[in-house]
Amino acid sequence: MKIGIDKIGFYTPSFYVDMTELAEARNIDPNKFTIGIGQDKMAFAPISQDSVTMGANAALQILNEEDLKKIDLVILATESGIDESKAGAVYIHRLLGIQPFSRAIEIKEACYGATAGINLAKDYVAKHPESKVLVIGSDIARYGLETGGEATQGAGAVAMVISANPRCITLEDDNVFYTEDIMDFWRPVYSEYACVEGKYSTEQYIHFFQTIWEKYREKFGKKLDDFAAICFHLPYTKMGKKALDTIIETAPSDVQERLLENYRLSTLYSRSVGNIYTGSLYLSFISLLENQANLQANDKIGFFSYGSGAVGEFFHGTLQPDFKKYIRTEEHAELLANRTKLSISDYETKFKQQLPKDGSTFEIDPSSDPAPIVLTGIQDHKRQYIKK
Ligand code: CAA
Repeated sequence: MKIGIDKIGFYTPSFYVDMTELAEARNIDPNKFTIGIGQDKMAFAPISQDSVTMGANAALQILNEEDLKKIDLVILATESGIDESKAGAVYIHRLLGIQPFSRAIEIKEACYGATAGINLAKDYVAKHPESKVLVIGSDIARYGLETGGEATQGAGAVAMVISANPRCITLEDDNVFYTEDIMDFWRPVYSEYACVEGKYSTEQYIHFFQTIWEKYREKFGKKLDDFAAICFHLPYTKMGKKALDTIIETAPSDVQERLLENYRLSTLYSRSVGNIYTGSLYLSFISLLENQANLQANDKIGFFSYGSGAVGEFFHGTLQPDFKKYIRTEEHAELLANRTKLSISDYETKFKQQLPKDGSTFEIDPSSDPAPIVLTGIQDHKRQYIKK
């Protein structure tokens, strides 16, 4: 049975920071951010958006009545969860109006979470072919003002419907996965911000990619030539390229050219959004689909997933005959174009705004955020969400 991504969409909040302005404010050469790291804009989540609202906003655009009736498993992958106990997926299930005889859970392993969610969904659909599964990766990447990681922040969510006979891409079963207990990036429960060993994390990403690719090649006899494109988890857009560069010379020059051009196209949305952690790999897939007109049915797309801590995985998918009918190029162009640029001082002020942590009542004006699903405050320790 073919199983894979039937529909895919993304959401990013309505504010962004210009990376050249951020570099200038930090007395850094802007080329370091725009060329060295490869980021032009960084999405910023206002206080009315969290991993629940962004995930729900991403899913809202892609679900129809039939999906709402057929989805019976909702998986939220996040490393910016809002509760140590209750799954954000339960709120999302209600906000979207999914039929009640469903499971709703949250998954965590840094930026790898959505890949874990997809694998769980595939196994579930294999046993229940009539069911559909909603898998969401939703995160706010925060390292703090004037920190080494500041230029690699971002915010957003990707939502995917996993089903039998998917219309976008089938996901094959040639997964190679790898785990090693390392401390490259983590966020203790008492901390708002991630702890990160920047250079070490970059080295480990590459080490995981090389180790997994070597095993994949050995186990499945595949070569770079087999792929139309390879999509990467993109903490910043230079990262995947650093990994790809370590193996690119094993391919003939025309294949190298194709993979590098398609890599560039897969990074266009991330250049304007920044790191969205769990959704990042799948945002690069959306960017590729919507910016590379030459892709064709049956093209094979490789996926490299990396979650610090660390778990990595490589697998591939096959584009389906009508995949072009299910891409949302115009909506996504509009979403990115309609954002408001924050001055650096507004960004710093908004960055410091925090929800109360002592249970006191807090209200947020829903009209301050154009998104259809927003957080309107906190009451009795409970987050209040509305769909406008
Ligand atoms: N013009 C052009 N390029 C310039 C430049 C200039 N004026 N100045 C510097 N550069 C280049 C550097 O040469 C370097 O390029 P290479 O990596 O190709 O050598 C690049 O800009 C970055 O420079 P530095 O290494 O000096 O930058 P840094 O010390 O500020 O650290 C970072 C960069 C490690 C990414 C840091 O921002 C960070 O810690 N980010 C968070 C961690 C992260 O994203 N890690 C990625 C792997 S972990 C992961 O994938 C999970 C996850 O999502 C977090």
